Amino acid sequence: MTQNELKKKVAEAALQYVKDIPVIGVGTGSTVNFFIEMLADYKADIEGAVSSSIGTTERLKKVGIPVLDLNAVSDLKIYIDGADEVNPDKKLIKGGGGALTREKIIAEASEKFVCIADETKCVDVLGAFPLPIEVIPMARSFVAREMVKLGGQPVWRENFITDNGNEIIDIRNLNITNPIELEKTINNIPGVVTVGLFALRGADIVLVGKGNEVVTL
Ligand code: 5RP
Repeated sequence: MTQNELKKKVAEAALQYVKDIPVIGVGTGSTVNFFIEMLADYKADIEGAVSSSIGTTERLKKVGIPVLDLNAVSDLKIYIDGADEVNPDKKLIKGGGGALTREKIIAEASEKFVCIADETKCVDVLGAFPLPIEVIPMARSFVAREMVKLGGQPVWRENFITDNGNEIIDIRNLNITNPIELEKTINNIPGVVTVGLFALRGADIVLVGKGNEVVTL
């Protein structure tokens, strides 16, 4: 199967998790885009969705799913989103698409986080994929220097502004053996809005498209 076929397969497998759930959280990215297309047939059951990005909001509206403000939703049962890397403990790197801050808020606010990924995303140790960090623009160089002290190689994602009006630096060369500690350390650097490590709140379930099947972690 091609990577896109695997993405479609995991997107389809995620549908069973949103059955009979009126309000769902929806992530961002090409895997989730397949999920949103498939949701179109499910919309009778879905009252609305909390969206993690402007792009996802547009797509949800296009298939007729009302988009709800998280502030108006007190009970979010499920969040469906992709990932850039997944380790065996279901800790993730996210933010390749730049939507990490809203994604992290919704993941944390949800009872269950179902991650959908193709097998190319599975790694033993996180860090081969550059770790995205959303920063307040004036803190970009400062945060980059702090990341050098932690052994990383920061690269500014030029000409990219997040949905929140901030910038992103991508940190290469990290071998993330203790994702929870690293997430806490980076969270403590002034100017960091969000680090794309989803370890303190990882996924509850990962659906991996592998070969011809979907494996559940
Ligand atoms: C966006 C993300 C995405 O979930 C991640 O980049 C995976 O995207 P794709 O499904 O296109 O491979 O974190 O900020």
